[in-house]
Amino acid sequence: MEGKVIVVTSGKGGVGKTTATSSIGAALALEGNRVAIVDMDIGLRNLDVVMGLENRIVFNIVDVVQGRCKISQAAIRDRRIENLFLIPASQSDNKDVLTTSGVERVAKQLRKEFDFIIMDSPAGIEKGFENSIVGANEAVVICTPDVSAVRDADRIIGLLYSRGLTPRLVVNRIEPARVERGEMLSHEDVLDVLSIELVGLVPMDEQVLISSNTGTPLVLQNDSKAGQAFKRIARRLNGEADLPIEVPTHKTSMWSKIGKTFLRSK
Ligand SMILES: Nc1ncnc2c1ncn2[C@@H]1O[C@H](COP(=O)(O)OP(=O)(O)OP(=O)(O)O)[C@@H](O)[C@H]1O
Ligand SMILES: [Mg+2]
Repeated sequence: MEGKVIVVTSGKGGVGKTTATSSIGAALALEGNRVAIVDMDIGLRNLDVVMGLENRIVFNIVDVVQGRCKISQAAIRDRRIENLFLIPASQSDNKDVLTTSGVERVAKQLRKEFDFIIMDSPAGIEKGFENSIVGANEAVVICTPDVSAVRDADRIIGLLYSRGLTPRLVVNRIEPARVERGEMLSHEDVLDVLSIELVGLVPMDEQVLISSNTGTPLVLQNDSKAGQAFKRIARRLNGEADLPIEVPTHKTSMWSKIGKTFLRSK
C-alpha cells in the first residue's frame, strides 16, 4: 500500500507548523508507522534544529529533487524514535530552486518508502507553499486563536480546496485562562469562521520551547500537555476518527474555587 502525504500549513507564520510537523511525525512513528518529515522551508530550515539532528545533515530535499542523491542518502534516521526520518531543507538555496513537477515526482517515490510523509510548509502563499502541497493527499491547517491568523488560515483553506484538498484544522497555543476571561478567541470562535473539520486543540505549553531548544521530541515528554494533544492528533490522522477532541482547561486554584463558592453563597 502507498503512504500518505500530509502537508502542514498555515498562512500566517510562526503559528506552530514546524512544532506540529515534528510532533505529529514523532507520534505516528511511535505508533509503529514508518514516517518521513520533510522540511520544505527552503532557505530558512529549522525542522532539523527542533529535532536535534542539525549536525547530521549531509544531503537535503533540494539534492533529492535535483537528482544529486537518493532519498535514502538524504533521510536522517532519528536515534530516539525508530522509524522516524528527517529530510532537511537546504539553507543556501532560495524557494524558487524547486519545480513543482520535481517535488511531485519525489513525493510519489516517498509514498512507496514511507507510511506517512509530513511536509512542513513555509509561511505564506508563494512558490514554497505550492511546492509543499503539490504531492499532498491531505492537508492540516495550523491556526492560533487570533484574528490575523484566522484570516490568513481562511485564505489558505480556500487555496487548498481549489487544489482538491479537504483541509482539517488544528488550533494551537490555546490559553484557557485567557479564553475564559474573554481576552482570547475560543476554539469555537475560530471554528465558526473557518468551518472545517477540527482535528485537535493544542494548549500553550512552555515545554514546546524547551523541547525545541534542546532538540528532544515533545511527544516523549509525558508531562507535556501539548505533546499529549499532538499524540491524539496523530491518532486521528491515522484513522481513529472517533477519538474525542480534548478541550484544554486551566487548573482552577483552590483559592479561586473557594472564592467562587463564597460569592455564590452570598
Ligand atoms: N503550543 C505551543 N505552546 C508554546 N509555544 C509554542 C506552541 N506552539 C509553537 N510554539 C512556539 O512558537 C514559535 C513558533 O513555532 P513554529 O516554529 O512551530 O511555527 P511555524 O509556523 O513553523 O513558524 P514559521 O512560519 O516561521 O515556519 C516557536 O518558538 C515555538 O516554540
Ligand atoms: Mg516553520
